[in-house]
Amino acid sequence: MENGKILVVGATGRVGGATVEELLGAGFEVRALVRSAEKGAPLRSLGAEVAVGDATAPDTLGPAVRGCSGILSALGAGPGRGAPEDVEYRGNLNLLSAALEAQVGRFVYSSVLMADHPLAQRIGAFREKARFEQELLAAGDLSSTILRPAIFMETLDMMLRGSVAFIPGRQRRPVSFIAARDIARAAVRAFQADILGRHELAGPDTTTFDGAFERLGKVRGKKIRALHVPLAALRVPGRFSSYVRELANMMALFDAVGFATDPSVLLDTFGVPALTIEEWANETR
Ligand SMILES: NC(=O)c1ccc[n+]([C@@H]2O[C@H](COP(=O)([O-])OP(=O)(O)OC[C@H]3O[C@@H](n4cnc5c(N)ncnc54)[C@H](OP(=O)(O)O)[C@@H]3O)[C@@H](O)[C@H]2O)c1
Repeated sequence: MENGKILVVGATGRVGGATVEELLGAGFEVRALVRSAEKGAPLRSLGAEVAVGDATAPDTLGPAVRGCSGILSALGAGPGRGAPEDVEYRGNLNLLSAALEAQVGRFVYSSVLMADHPLAQRIGAFREKARFEQELLAAGDLSSTILRPAIFMETLDMMLRGSVAFIPGRQRRPVSFIAARDIARAAVRAFQADILGRHELAGPDTTTFDGAFERLGKVRGKKIRALHVPLAALRVPGRFSSYVRELANMMALFDAVGFATDPSVLLDTFGVPALTIEEWANETR
C-alpha cells in the first residue's frame, strides 16, 4: 500500500512504541492512540500525531481512526488494565468496528503464538486474542494481517532480579524468543508489501529459558542464576491475583508443550533479519 497514516494502538507499550518509531522511519504518518494526553507527549516529540482515546470506549475511536489508511493494534491487558475479555477481545472489536465504519482498509494485529492451543484457553490473554483473530479473519471489507509472536526478549529482563532469574516451572522444553522491535519491523513490512494472513514470528534463537539466561549473562558479563519456582507455589497467590493466575497458566503451557516456532518466517516472508539474543542485549544495553 502507499504510505498513508497509520493509527497505532498500544503506542505506549513495547511493540506499539517500537512500531511508531519504525513507521515514522519508513516514511509513514503516524497517529498514536493514548489513554491520556501526558502519555502522548514523548510520541508527539518523535513526530507522531496523538489522539486521546480508549479501546474500551467506542465513542473515542471514531475521531481516532478518521483519515487513517491502516491500524496497528498491539493492545495488551497487563496488570491494572482491565480484564482480557474487555481489552483484548472487546477493545479490539471496537477498533475493528470503527475501522469498518471509517473504511480503513488495513488492520495489522499483534496477537500471540499458540493463541488457540487447547492448553492456552486457560490464559485469558491468549483465549481472547484467539477470539478476536476469528472476528478479524471474518471481516470482509478490510484486509488483515495477524502476527503471532513468540516470547519477547524483553520478558527476560522482567524475570530478572539482580543476577537471579525467577522461572516458574521446570521449563525443559524449547521456546522461541523475539525482540519487540522485530515485530514492529514485520508490522511495517506488512503495511508496505501488503503481506496478509496469519504468521508466526520468532527470532533465530530457539532454546530453553535457562539457555537464554546463560547467553544473556555472557553478553552482560555476569553469571545469571536460574531459580526454578514450582508452578504449585503460584497457586495460592493466584487465588488473590488474576495477574499471577495468568502467569501461572502461561508458564504451565510452556512447561507442557514449549513455545517454539519456525524462525525463517521473519526473513523469508517479511524480509526482517531478526536479532539474536546477543544482538538484542547489545542494542538495549
Ligand atoms: N511479553 C511477551 O512475551 C508477549 C509475547 C507474545 C505476545 N505478547 C502480546 O503482545 C501485545 C503487546 O505486548 P507489549 O509488551 O508491547 O504490551 P505492553 O507494553 O504491556 O503495552 C500494552 C499497550 O496497550 C495499551 N492499552 C491497554 N489497554 C488499553 C485500552 N483500553 N485502550 C487503549 N490502549 C490500551 C497500553 O496503554 P497504557 O500505557 O495506557 O496502559 C499499552 O500501550 C500484548 O497483547 C501481549 O499480550 C506478549
